[in-house]
Amino acid sequence: MDSSQSLVAKNITKVFRQGGKNLDVLNGISQTFERGKSYAIVGVSGSGKSTFMHILGGLDHPSSGEVLLFGNHLHKNAHRSMMLNTYLGFVFQFHYLVKELTVLENVMLPGLIAGMAQLETLARARELLDFLGMSAKADVYPVALSGGEQQRVSIVRAMFNRPAFLIADEPTGNLDEGNAAQAIKLLLDGCKAWNMGLILCSHDRHIYDQMGSIFRMHQGVLAIEK
Ligand SMILES: Nc1ncnc2c1ncn2[C@@H]1O[C@H](COP(=O)(O)OP(=O)(O)OP(=O)(O)O)[C@@H](O)[C@H]1O
Ligand SMILES: [Mg+2]
Repeated sequence: MDSSQSLVAKNITKVFRQGGKNLDVLNGISQTFERGKSYAIVGVSGSGKSTFMHILGGLDHPSSGEVLLFGNHLHKNAHRSMMLNTYLGFVFQFHYLVKELTVLENVMLPGLIAGMAQLETLARARELLDFLGMSAKADVYPVALSGGEQQRVSIVRAMFNRPAFLIADEPTGNLDEGNAAQAIKLLLDGCKAWNMGLILCSHDRHIYDQMGSIFRMHQGVLAIEK
């Protein structure tokens, strides 16, 4: 397999300290995720899905083991922030839009952070909002959007730099069926459009059944279901 196109977890463990005791949450997870493919991680609440996704995306450190993005260490890397902003995207259950910025400015943010020219950033943000059918809301603040609209904006923002991998932790957790379907369509469109890899966790069978592979988190390891 071509390591320049993959996100690899190697023997990941995570131990939390809780109430004076060690809590072994992840017990040695090794898994390769490839670009262009979609993966779901399912499992009961507290099984460690979010913990694993945060480590996979470089937002938290493993207790041992390593994550390789395109063959490069993600955690022990001087360019970690650049790698995260350029190659990885995140979507959370809560949208985390910046409330002081308009919808348009929120969508532009990853481009500006990446040093993309302002005019190009503006043009791409407008194009994405057009694609979402949300151009009319470009100049409003997130507080004036519905929950579904907020989440769609946060998804296009996460995909602004056309990330190689998008990590989505219960992206539809707060959405009704119609908005959830639109959000998932957006994510899967990204997989096709620029060969993005999608790693998603969800409690909703209707959502995770649409992913190419399904893994179950149980006792700190991942087992393949489909
Ligand atoms: N920062 C932390 N400090 C201590 N323990 C933590 C911390 N974060 C998570 N945990 C513990 O790790 C375990 C796994 O949590 P995690 O959030 O990964 O579960 P999850 O599978 O995402 O659950 P859910 O489906 O409810 O989102 C839980 O028992 C939780 O209490
Ligand atoms: Mg979670």
